[in-house]
Amino acid sequence: MTDSLDRYEVKRSVDITEIDLNELRELYAYLSSSVLADGTLFQVGRMLRAPQNIALVARDRCTGLLAGCALLTIVDQITKRTGLINDVVVHPRDRNQGIGGLMLDRLLRSARDLGCRHVELTSSNARATANALYASRGFVRRDTNVLRLLLPHGSDPGVSTME
Ligand SMILES: CC(C)(COP(=O)(O)OP(=O)(O)OC[C@H]1O[C@@H](n2cnc3c(N)ncnc32)[C@H](O)[C@@H]1OP(=O)(O)O)[C@@H](O)C(=O)NCCC(=O)NCCS
Repeated sequence: MTDSLDRYEVKRSVDITEIDLNELRELYAYLSSSVLADGTLFQVGRMLRAPQNIALVARDRCTGLLAGCALLTIVDQITKRTGLINDVVVHPRDRNQGIGGLMLDRLLRSARDLGCRHVELTSSNARATANALYASRGFVRRDTNVLRLLLPHGSDPGVSTME
């Protein structure tokens, strides 16, 4: 399914050949200080193939350039199905034209259609625009700890075993 914003096309991406690593590197730099390694496309391909993921890509119809992306992951637990949103970013040259809002609305609609009870995401306080966007869609802050354990060797994008 494809949504339009006149100038931009936002569609679900499942095909790694549509992704150019240098373009993705440029966009991702506006989301994180981590530089994407050469092996990143392997990980992106795995991400796109995973049935629990819905990855949206926005492109400028005139230039063909990558304008933004966003990811929904469906999480099945014993008692419920939920959604997790990550990797939301719009290139600065394309901001304030509704792309971020459109991608978020599309992902929330998918989560609803797929039976998710709720959708979660994390965002730092410093991300004022993102937090305003999420609040405008009804997201509220949870009173909980977000815990993380770093695993040795867990950063190798070439590792593919899962049992
Ligand atoms: C957050 C981000 C994705 C928004 O993308 P965008 O395409 O510019 O968003 P939109 O044009 O759809 O605007 C989103 C909403 O924010 C509002 N908004 C836009 N600029 C704003 C600003 N400077 N301050 C406050 N609100 C603003 C818009 O009015 C819009 O509200 P609406 O949907 O109710 O009309 C983009 O700013 C971005 O990539 N930021 C850097 C990466 C980031 O922080 N990602 C989120 C990680 S959690």
